[in-house]
Amino acid sequence: MTYYWLKAGHIIFVIFWMAGLFMLPRYFVYHQECAPDSPENAVWIDRERKLLKIILWPSLVVVWILGLLLAVHIGAFGQGWFHAKLALVLGLSAYHVWLADYASALARGQRKLTGRQLRMLNEVPGIVAALAVVLVVVKPF
Ligand code: HEM
Repeated sequence: MTYYWLKAGHIIFVIFWMAGLFMLPRYFVYHQECAPDSPENAVWIDRERKLLKIILWPSLVVVWILGLLLAVHIGAFGQGWFHAKLALVLGLSAYHVWLADYASALARGQRKLTGRQLRMLNEVPGIVAALAVVLVVVKPF
């Protein structure tokens, strides 16, 4: 029973986390389309901060805690699929930290990437998430 509750919680927070990871770079694209000193610029900075504070950071923490509890529960640490999944989710977590850093840079007026580059980058978490789901469901190795 505990296992199913952990898994339900894990999947729910994975959905929140992924939603935030898809939304934030879209925010960056719209943010960068407005003038640096405009009132709209300040509104985007506020939206990005809130998305990170309310959705992204709490979801990252809960997904990790529940994921690791699940791993302990089913004894996944010695299994190949789990090592591969860990590598993917570490990559996704690094991407999350990079996004948070990009939001801080944007708030300081630095626009390091073009809208096109941000849009292309936004494809990455979708591919990583798809691979992570295949690994946990199919467990190919
Ligand atoms: C962040 C660290 C994460 C850890 C440590 C972790 C670990 C785990 C573990 C151990 C399971 C249980 C597998 C089983 O019962 O056979 C699980 C289930 C699952 N995980 Fe994660 N996970 C993480 C992140 C993610 C992410 C980012 C996604 C998707 C994008 C994801 C999607 C799923 C799904 C869909 C299941 C349920 C699979 C099933 O039906 O058995 N997890 N996770």
